[in-house]
Amino acid sequence: MGWRGILGFDYGIVQAPLGPDISGPELVAAVANAGGLGFLRAPDWESPDYLRGLIRKTRTLTDKPFGVGVILAFPHEENLKAILDEKVAVLQVYWGDCSEELVLKAHQAGVKVVPQVGSVEDAKKAISVGVDAIIVQGREAGGHVIGQEGLISLLPRVVDLVGNHDMPVIAAGGIVDARGYVAALALGAQGVCLGTRFVATEESYAHPTYKRKLVDLDKTEYTNVFGRARWPNAPQRALVTPFFNDWKSLPPHENEVNQPVIGHATINGEEKEIRRLGGTVPNVTATGDIESMAMYAGQGVCLINEILPASEVVKRLVNGAQQLILKEFSSL
Ligand SMILES: Cc1cc2nc3c(=O)[nH]c(=O)nc-3n(C[C@H](O)[C@H](O)[C@H](O)COP(=O)(O)O)c2cc1C
Repeated sequence: MGWRGILGFDYGIVQAPLGPDISGPELVAAVANAGGLGFLRAPDWESPDYLRGLIRKTRTLTDKPFGVGVILAFPHEENLKAILDEKVAVLQVYWGDCSEELVLKAHQAGVKVVPQVGSVEDAKKAISVGVDAIIVQGREAGGHVIGQEGLISLLPRVVDLVGNHDMPVIAAGGIVDARGYVAALALGAQGVCLGTRFVATEESYAHPTYKRKLVDLDKTEYTNVFGRARWPNAPQRALVTPFFNDWKSLPPHENEVNQPVIGHATINGEEKEIRRLGGTVPNVTATGDIESMAMYAGQGVCLINEILPASEVVKRLVNGAQQLILKEFSSL
């Protein structure tokens, strides 16, 4: 009965934190109001006051609980303090050490902890430090990809590992509709975490050109051409745009550092230069050569045909899953 909800939320539908500045208060509140778990994304630098502002703005748009995602590979201690002081419902962590100390601190503040992992080893570690749920990311996923395995084999292994622990397992990677949701439930997940589908919503801060390309294009590639200097050894899954095709064979010794500035954007309240191959996806404030910016997407992008309100994404997943289960599986 996965759609009945996890972690106190109405449904097991999770909107991934979308960095660097794509899942803002409007998107998170829309998901929360629809009964899902939405995640803001903490800045990649210490900016606790700005982050507090984001959390408080979200609270003006919804009375429902929501979460914040933190990339542990970037400076985060001050941001973390702000998140725990504000007592958001859930802290999502990715790419770094989700330590027992971090989990204890969060629990003392009444905040649940949900790491995103990409391997059985990392899932084992997460279970051992007492997290509240685990997001399992398959290689199909859009954005940065931490593991090598496809979801269909990795997910049931983590489900088996979790066993009788009261720790929902949430599937991430390539899921955009009710069929993917039901497949994840069949593999033992209790929830699904969608990134790309929520980038392509009315409320996301993605630039309109990026949203349009998610509808128009349908191929992605696992790559490491973006942000090699800023975030080393962190491969990504990106949309195959004409720009990507021209640059995907970047020699291994090169990176974004000596590439030209191709645009600007306000990211988490700060003016930033966007360098070619820097790996910054264009948000709504981006100006310049948008077509040459990174556009991350999961393999399910080929099933995205329209920009929808986020509430509609949640509704279609929940209603669609219920109908699919009743129609296809209940008479067995
Ligand atoms: C544009 C974009 C930005 C992302 N940013 C983050 C992030 O900041 N933190 C994180 O944990 N995951 C991030 N992800 C990955 C998601 O957590 C999730 O694993 C992925 O979106 C699932 O695959 P899907 O895109 O096919 O739904 C991002 C994904 C995309 C597409």
